[in-house]
Amino acid sequence: MPLVFSMTTEKMERMSEPILIVENVKKYFNTARGIIKAVDGVSFFVNQGEVFGVVGESGSGKTTLGNMVVGIYTPTSGKIIYKGQDIAKHAKERPKWLKKDIQIVFQNPASSLNPRRTIRQTLEVPLKVHMPSSNIAERVDKLLEMVDLPPEFAERYPDELGGGEKQLVAIARALATEPSFVVLDEPTSALDVSVQGKIIKILMNLKKRLNLSYMFITHNLSLMSNVADRVAIMYLGKVRELAETRDFFLNPMHPYTRMLLSSIPVITDEEEKLKPKRIESMGEIAGALNIPPGCSFHPRCPFVMDVCRSVDPPLNELAPAHFCSCHLYTTSNNAYDKYKK
Ligand SMILES: Nc1ncnc2c1ncn2[C@@H]1O[C@H](COP(=O)(O)OP(=O)(O)OP(=O)(O)O)[C@@H](O)[C@H]1O
Ligand SMILES: [Mg+2]
Repeated sequence: MPLVFSMTTEKMERMSEPILIVENVKKYFNTARGIIKAVDGVSFFVNQGEVFGVVGESGSGKTTLGNMVVGIYTPTSGKIIYKGQDIAKHAKERPKWLKKDIQIVFQNPASSLNPRRTIRQTLEVPLKVHMPSSNIAERVDKLLEMVDLPPEFAERYPDELGGGEKQLVAIARALATEPSFVVLDEPTSALDVSVQGKIIKILMNLKKRLNLSYMFITHNLSLMSNVADRVAIMYLGKVRELAETRDFFLNPMHPYTRMLLSSIPVITDEEEKLKPKRIESMGEIAGALNIPPGCSFHPRCPFVMDVCRSVDPPLNELAPAHFCSCHLYTTSNNAYDKYKK
């Protein structure tokens, strides 16, 4: 049985100097139907220059988490430490430097761009607010060039652009303020498969060139294997596994992760051999309004034990820098032996 350590802020800080530390962050929504625990005690850090992948099915809380980092939502509780300062409180009153320094690219460029503004006018908005002393016309040209769009696109309207081109404009708009940190919320999921690869390539080149750090949100686990340095898996508002990408794919621990990985389509026999043994989910996906007690994954878990129905397992470090929240690893039982086979 591996040694178990709990993840503390001090430990995370010792490992490197993260640009972002999210500590036990919660976001609850009070609705007419009850309290929705969209994000329920999430902790992680993102190193400078890193791509941190956040993966999970629809409704797992990815967007809510990204929105708290970028200041669209104020967390119900917890800390968000960015460049050494706790920025969790009063999201709407963030200082100007912070609004400039953390940007977001949304999933759907069609709804995030104003149809009545030309691309130039769209790009001018953040420039006028945050970079008033710059040569704005020159900056617009430069931004278009950075995302591989021709300069004449500046005078076009969003309707005249394809989906991929619109998303490149949204990326240019996010980069207008020269941020250090960008939340990418499913930046390619609404796009045609044929342009997804191009957008990812541009994003990764920009990251290198501009020394950016990314929080990359997606439901597409196989995309993460190519772009992320580390990956966190979310399930119903909680991180259930977090590891360096290579380790994550070679040694997945949580039954949910293994379930997701075993259902990724592969082409070659070599890839097939690397996949974990197929794990079939048992129950239905629960909603955020009625989160099952104990481990929220237990109704779907083929290895469920009694303890899973009542006690929520903590996120423990089970191998160096590999965190997993699952009783299989902390309880001596037959299910664990069956699981490891
Ligand atoms: N403003 C809100 N008010 C009430 N409930 C909300 C709000 N925003 C999100 N939720 C709920 O919180 C839960 C998490 O939603 P969220 O959008 O963060 O999930 P997600 O992982 O981004 O899903 P998707 O993959 O579909 O984008 C869901 O149950 C959602 O209905
Ligand atoms: Mg989302």
